[in-house]
Amino acid sequence: MASRLPRPVPTDGFVTPTSTTQAETETVLLNHIPDKSRPETLPVLQKNAHMQYLVRNLVQGFPARYVSQDASQPWLLFWTLQGFSILQVGLDPGNKQRAIDKIMTWQHPGGGFGGGPGQAAHLLPTYAAVCSLAIVGRSGPGGGWDQIDREKLYNFFMSLKQPDGSFLVTHHAEVDVRGIYCLLVTATLLDLLTPELVDGTAEFIASCQTYEGGFSSSSQPYYSLDSVLLSSPRPPLGEAHGGYTFCSLASWILLQPFVNAESDISKRPEINLKNLLRWLVQVQGTEIELGGFKGRTNKLVDGCYSWWCGGSFALLEGLGLGGSQNTRSRDDTSPDSSAGTEECWDDIDDSLFNRKALQEYILYAGQHPAGGLRDKPPKNADAYHTLYCISGLSSAQHHVFPSSSRQTEILGTWVAASDPTVTNPLRKHIFSDSLSWIEEEGGSVIVGGKDNRVNATHPVFNLTMTHCEGLMAYFYKQKVPPRILKSTSS
Ligand code: FPP
Ligand code: ZN
Repeated sequence: MASRLPRPVPTDGFVTPTSTTQAETETVLLNHIPDKSRPETLPVLQKNAHMQYLVRNLVQGFPARYVSQDASQPWLLFWTLQGFSILQVGLDPGNKQRAIDKIMTWQHPGGGFGGGPGQAAHLLPTYAAVCSLAIVGRSGPGGGWDQIDREKLYNFFMSLKQPDGSFLVTHHAEVDVRGIYCLLVTATLLDLLTPELVDGTAEFIASCQTYEGGFSSSSQPYYSLDSVLLSSPRPPLGEAHGGYTFCSLASWILLQPFVNAESDISKRPEINLKNLLRWLVQVQGTEIELGGFKGRTNKLVDGCYSWWCGGSFALLEGLGLGGSQNTRSRDDTSPDSSAGTEECWDDIDDSLFNRKALQEYILYAGQHPAGGLRDKPPKNADAYHTLYCISGLSSAQHHVFPSSSRQTEILGTWVAASDPTVTNPLRKHIFSDSLSWIEEEGGSVIVGGKDNRVNATHPVFNLTMTHCEGLMAYFYKQKVPPRILKSTSS
């Protein structure tokens, strides 16, 4: 327990279910706030316990309570594999091959991947399957990469396209920015991103920004049944939420080569970055909430938003907000300095969010004592929260930013396609924009000391840089120059 009690989040005194659950959460979290005057309370990332948790799920299979996730099998695998990558664990060839063989059973004969064998293709498991292949797959027979039917995948994507630039998540289903993010990531990684595919998509994403500044799941369609575009504006559908905000913002970044290709600046769609930043900073919890993030206004902190919201700050840098001069830590001459001994958060660095506080939430409240990570105590760990807590920890530890010098290097080795059917003039921008994210040398802040360090992850894709480079170099037929700045990606 802390020697000085942090202040409760203020209320107007009118008791509601919201104020009651908030107070209950504060009481639980208070028990996890350490006495910082005692050095033995320095938080330890229980890497071994988390690794064992992931190994159990991978090797023994998921426990029976995951039965409801039968349509999320690619996700369960991705959360596990990417968890290993961030925890700096490589897989042996046998486990890799078993994973590849399993992933390929999820590919639908009509293109794209479903949530399990024989299930309909859907944008969300397609992202999870392709990203899993980035981690465990390889080129050549049985390696997975050459078994992805890219032509059918592209046709599947086009079949989901709506007149307003959005996409259904699967046939006969709804539009959701999560699906758009999954489509854009997959298309970017596999060299399938074309002007035809994303025509109108940036406009759609912009229409999902709410009055609060964050993004909602979708916006009101403005087309009629006979595909004629109506002139009425499309209000966002629903509430600003961290998950949708991450997906929208990452999509917005992936769409920048197309937005910037419009020479008439007045025709370029826009989002309100100032409102977005204001919304994002206000969803970080206060001291009594241990600096965790909540997904929406007036709701509870939860470990998974460490990534969806905490990770969104790096994305803002991709749009020029923040930047190295703002996010460079005080100790930028000593990369892995321990930041765990301070009394309170007064000495925060210049980041747009409190990186040390977020690490404290994850380390003190997010870790389940038996391994794996969670939403909040006293909940159990699960595969989803395990990945997004450690991904959030990674984004709070490392300063990963888009580097113009790295981009120049990548463009310097770019080789134009020899195949005359490859006509997309933006390919090299898509490739170099995606791979120009690097970790700032000396920019890490590791709460609890260097043993708590995890790998950096790509802010848009949530894959290590090494895995992004491997997959993209293969599909774009390029060589990526070695990274000269210090990086911890495995
Ligand atoms: C509300 O849950 C949460 C949602 C409606 C969806 C959130 C979306 C994501 C987490 C993004 C997922 C991204 C991909 C790529 C699939 P809730 O009401 O239980 O939680 P809350 O109270 O914290 O809002
Ligand atoms: Zn959660």
